[in-house]
Parts: sequence; C-alpha cells; structure tokens
Amino acid sequence: MKWLVTGGAGFIGSNFLYYLRGQYPTDQLVCVDKLTYAGNLSTLKGLMSAESPLSAPGFHFYQENICDRDRMFAVFETEKPDVVVHFAAESHVDRSIDAPDVFLKTNVLGTGVLLDACRAFGGIRFHQVSTDEVYGDLPLDRPDLFFTETTPLHTSSPYSASKAGADLLVQAYGRTYGLPVTISRCSNNYGPYQFPEKLIPLMIINALNDRPLPVYGDGLNVRDWLYVWDHCRAIDLIVKHGTTGETYNVGGHNEMRNIDIVRLICRELGKPESLISHVTDRKGHDRRYAIDPAKIGRELGWQPETAFRDGIARTIRWYLDHQDWWQDIISGEYRTYYAKMYGQREEIR
Ligand SMILES: NC(=O)c1ccc[n+]([C@@H]2O[C@H](COP(=O)([O-])OP(=O)(O)OC[C@H]3O[C@@H](n4cnc5c(N)ncnc54)[C@H](O)[C@@H]3O)[C@@H](O)[C@H]2O)c1
Repeated sequence: MKWLVTGGAGFIGSNFLYYLRGQYPTDQLVCVDKLTYAGNLSTLKGLMSAESPLSAPGFHFYQENICDRDRMFAVFETEKPDVVVHFAAESHVDRSIDAPDVFLKTNVLGTGVLLDACRAFGGIRFHQVSTDEVYGDLPLDRPDLFFTETTPLHTSSPYSASKAGADLLVQAYGRTYGLPVTISRCSNNYGPYQFPEKLIPLMIINALNDRPLPVYGDGLNVRDWLYVWDHCRAIDLIVKHGTTGETYNVGGHNEMRNIDIVRLICRELGKPESLISHVTDRKGHDRRYAIDPAKIGRELGWQPETAFRDGIARTIRWYLDHQDWWQDIISGEYRTYYAKMYGQREEIR
C-alpha cells in the first residue's frame, strides 16, 4: 500500500510516518511538506538513508506547497498513492490571530487542491486530520457537556475557522463527487517532535533554561490531552476500517487545566513554580475543550492506551534527550516570533 502523508515533517505527521513504518514495514511512504517554520527535515532522519536522504527504500520526500496545483498533480501522477492522510496545515492559533491569510490559503485552498487531485486520479482514499477546535468551546461550569460528531461547528479563531472550512470541503467532495473521505477531529496532542511554540514543549524548554513560564490569563483553560501515538493509531483504524463519509472524534478523556500542566512540568524537572508568569490572555481564548470519543470506541474499538502520567514523563524525557533537535529550532526564526508573541505581553500578576 502507498501512503501519501502531507505535513509529515511536522509534529503529528512525522509521528504518523514513524508509526506506519513500524506497523507496516513494507508499505510505501510518500511525504509532501513545504517545510515551513514548523516542518523540520531532521525530524525524518530515521526514515532516510545516509546516501540518498530524500528517497530511501520505501520512503520519498517532496518539498512542495500543497497549494501549488501543478506540483501537487505532478506528485500524484508520479506516485499514484492509494491513501492520502492530510496533516499539512498552519496549526498555531496565536499565529492565525496575527496573520490569518496563510491559514486560509494552506488550510482551505490547499485542502481543495488535494481533493481535486484525488478526484482527477481516482480511487484514492482521503483522510482529513482535523481538530476539536472546530466545535468552539464549552463553559467551565458544565463538566457534563462534551463535543460529539453532531455538535454544530462554532469556531473562535481564524485557525479553527480555516480547519472547519476545510472539513466542509472534504464532506462536500464526498457527497458531490463520491470521493471516499473520512475526517477525524482530535483533542490536543502531546509527545516527541512538537514545535516549541506549543504549550507543553514551550514550558519544558523554558523551565530547562530557567526562563519565565508564560501562562495566558488565569491558566484555568481546560484541554483534553492525548498522547500523539494514540492519535496515530486512531487515524490508521479510521483509514482501514472507518465508514467513508463519516467523521470520528478522537480524545483522551483526560481534561487538564493549563496551569496544572505547567505546575506538573515544574515538579518533574525540579524547577520552582515562581518561574510561572501570568500574561495577557489570548484574544477569544477558548475556555474548555472536551471530546466524547464514544463513536470511534464503539465502531472501531479504539481506546487511548497511554495514561497521561506515562505520556508526559516520556515526553519530558524525549526533550531532555533531544536537545540538539530543539536547540536548532529555537536559535532561528523562532526567536523573533517568541519576542513578538511574549515580549509585549504584560505580566498580569
Ligand atoms: N497539534 C495538535 O494538538 C492537533 C490536534 C488536533 C488536530 N491537529 C491537526 O493535525 C495536523 C498536524 O498538526 P501538527 O501539530 O503536527 O502541526 P505542525 O504545525 O507541527 O505541522 C504542520 C506541517 O505542515 C507543513 N505545512 C504547512 N503548510 C504547508 C503547505 N502549504 N504545504 C505543505 N506543507 C505545509 C509544515 O511544514 C509542517 O511540517 C493539522 O492539520 C492540525 O490542524 C493538531
């Protein structure tokens, strides 16, 4: 089987490629990634051969923009994939608030290009990797409420709006053109290779460097955290056994407040909580996300396997053991971004 994975040099896409390599050693893996600030070729070292980095046996890498129709069609023509698993996206809410335009281009128009390529070449299974953020947020005082697959889309940020737009396009191509499509909407992931702008790696790296730990607002925002490998298993199951045209929610039943995650990281690394600094909140900051993953459990037998205490310990260990990976990243463009995002935020207490 030949898998075309978009965004495979990013956090979840790269974990998915490693998952596939372990699970199906003889399958062909094709990765398409533009290598934006969030994509790192070094992340894929384990899939490449020293002699020919971009094209090892069973693995081929294309540095391409999914919005480039001609280039995408050329990749499909050459590779003739059986399955497309679409991760490529602009994925950071803060950046979408600062500059929405590229989110609309990559997340909506780029998805449209891939769907058109699937249509043109025919017989290709398409899976859209989406997010629970398309459902908006839930109030903190209603712990009985969860997002199900029938919860109306109700987006808060340009990021979530662009993902919702892409999801609707995927559904429309399924209905109108009969494309065999599925969508997964997952809660917050954590694990190896996550870019340091996201909460967990940001806090681990800042704590290791004895730098302030900037927590937005009161830090009481709740997210449902899932270890990335559990997400990869869910996508695999949906591609292999899911019903086309359907959407599946994926979540860990592991709701935690941001501030508690940061305190836990301080404890694990032996750092004082005095490093925590509450800063001006993100605009439109969602309060609580909580996924009901009953459908994927019932229909496909999926359950999260990694307990948060094990996953977070493994993740912290990974960042300790792979300092070269993130040192390279935080020394580049990321520094300018960090100064822009956090340099101007006031400490609020
Ligand atoms: N991180 C999470 O917690 C989470 C949760 C649910 C869903 N998702 C979804 O999963 C997917 C992957 O998220 P992630 O956290 O791994 O993101 P990421 O930002 O780490 O990686 C995104 C990858 O896409 C690539 N990319 C961006 N624009 C591109 C373009 N125009 N053409 C080709 N490649 C491009 C980047 O270079 C990068 O390698 C996204 O679609 C996101 O919406 C993420």
